[in-house]
Amino acid sequence: MTQHLEEAGAQTAGDPDYRDEGLEFPPGFVFGSATASYQIEGAVEADGRGPSIWDTFSHTAGKVWNGDTGDIACDHYHRVESDLDLMKQLGLESYRFSIAWPRIQPTGRGPANEAGLAFYERLVDGLLARNIKPIVTLYHWDLPQALEDGGGWTNRETALAFGDYARIVGERLGDRVAVWTTLNEPWCSAYLGYGSGAHAPGRTEPAAALAAVHHLNLAHGLAVSALREVVTNDPDFAITLNLHVFRPDGDTGAEAVRRVDGLANRLFLDPLLNGTYPEDVLADTAGITDWSFIQQGDLGIIRQPLDLLGVNYYSTTRVRMWDGNGEKQNADGHKPSAGTAWPGADDVEFLPQPGPYTEMGWNIDPSGLEDLLVSLHERWPSVPLMITENGAAFSDVVETDADGQRRVHDFDRIDYLRRHFTAAHRAMSRGVDLRGYQVWSLMDNFEWGYGYSKRFGIVHVDYETLERTLKDSARWYARLIRERRIPGLE
Ligand code: FCB
Repeated sequence: MTQHLEEAGAQTAGDPDYRDEGLEFPPGFVFGSATASYQIEGAVEADGRGPSIWDTFSHTAGKVWNGDTGDIACDHYHRVESDLDLMKQLGLESYRFSIAWPRIQPTGRGPANEAGLAFYERLVDGLLARNIKPIVTLYHWDLPQALEDGGGWTNRETALAFGDYARIVGERLGDRVAVWTTLNEPWCSAYLGYGSGAHAPGRTEPAAALAAVHHLNLAHGLAVSALREVVTNDPDFAITLNLHVFRPDGDTGAEAVRRVDGLANRLFLDPLLNGTYPEDVLADTAGITDWSFIQQGDLGIIRQPLDLLGVNYYSTTRVRMWDGNGEKQNADGHKPSAGTAWPGADDVEFLPQPGPYTEMGWNIDPSGLEDLLVSLHERWPSVPLMITENGAAFSDVVETDADGQRRVHDFDRIDYLRRHFTAAHRAMSRGVDLRGYQVWSLMDNFEWGYGYSKRFGIVHVDYETLERTLKDSARWYARLIRERRIPGLE
């Protein structure tokens, strides 16, 4: 920790330190926290849930750290009432959670599974009863396995099925949900799922990854238009992207940024918000695919008016073109694996970043968040933004204090959050229309390929007993929410 602080203090002269305190957030700004179904629910066979690609992947040897699976996870499915009480205790104003498609349609098609709908209805009603806004994500990566067996996101049919699924959920909950987010981080679904193979379904086919990008975009458009037809209240419609903040390095940095920004950011933002695909990226990838899966009318479907753009932010990425000498560096922060997450950009080099780092090895750089929010606002001034994820993994230790209370003194996480809330506030003072902040994550959980080895929660979960313990960061956050201003350190 000390080392982190010293490094964090070693800012270049003139750079903001981002550890302000007392900054006040306006009324209406929504403080919440986020989770995702497969990461917390467990109960994978309960009440008719079908298998998802993450069940298959996590049960495949060698795919997830330590052979961990989401079979039990935090057992949230059975502990929903006490978890809701915990949210209330923290004073959360919103809760971002995802719906497991295979609980609603066990094979991804056909009639709704009543027990699955009933579970989420109970959750939503439990939130409303506690005055917490439900922010629903329809897809946080747990695709029904049966759809993957038919080609998954490489198959247009999956996008059509997603529209039907959205309608089913909207018909049931469309009078109560405050914000509908269609997809979480389609970048990960497409490039880690079908390109690098680090995520389920673990395919390593560059052309498949690009087809997945388009079908995910299409799925978003179909879902928003289906929801619009069935909801009866006046919710916000959104999508959550993990937009990458690239820093150019040296003479070739600008070209490298153009290439990876195209793949990671513009292949989503341009169709979603402008109704176009970036010509330069189609050209860069012409040797991999001819993009003939884009059909007439698709771009019109994809470009739906959005009430909010969800932004997930963790760190920054430094790139340059590889000069072909020595071994290419690959510090892109994503679990290394067989394939590539960057189809058509194999000659881009990812350079290590200066610290401090979180337990993921991701560099801590709150200026990236400020830059990202400001640049989105400048490009699309009429699209309000919401931070739908931000947070950090550290190796937490549970201690028993003199008063016999279990405590987790996670000063590093408080410092991380404080600096990112400061960055968000700075962006707002520069005119960014930022509507809220959902801390990742409410509780420690199954961190995908890293299993249970990385703890992102502001609430600690003991995976033996499933006991929840508020970390100091949870208490700090509760105070921020109560006072609506960034607390100092005590
Ligand atoms: C994001 C995911 C989320 C969690 C955090 C750490 O990419 O959306 O589920 O894994 O990273």
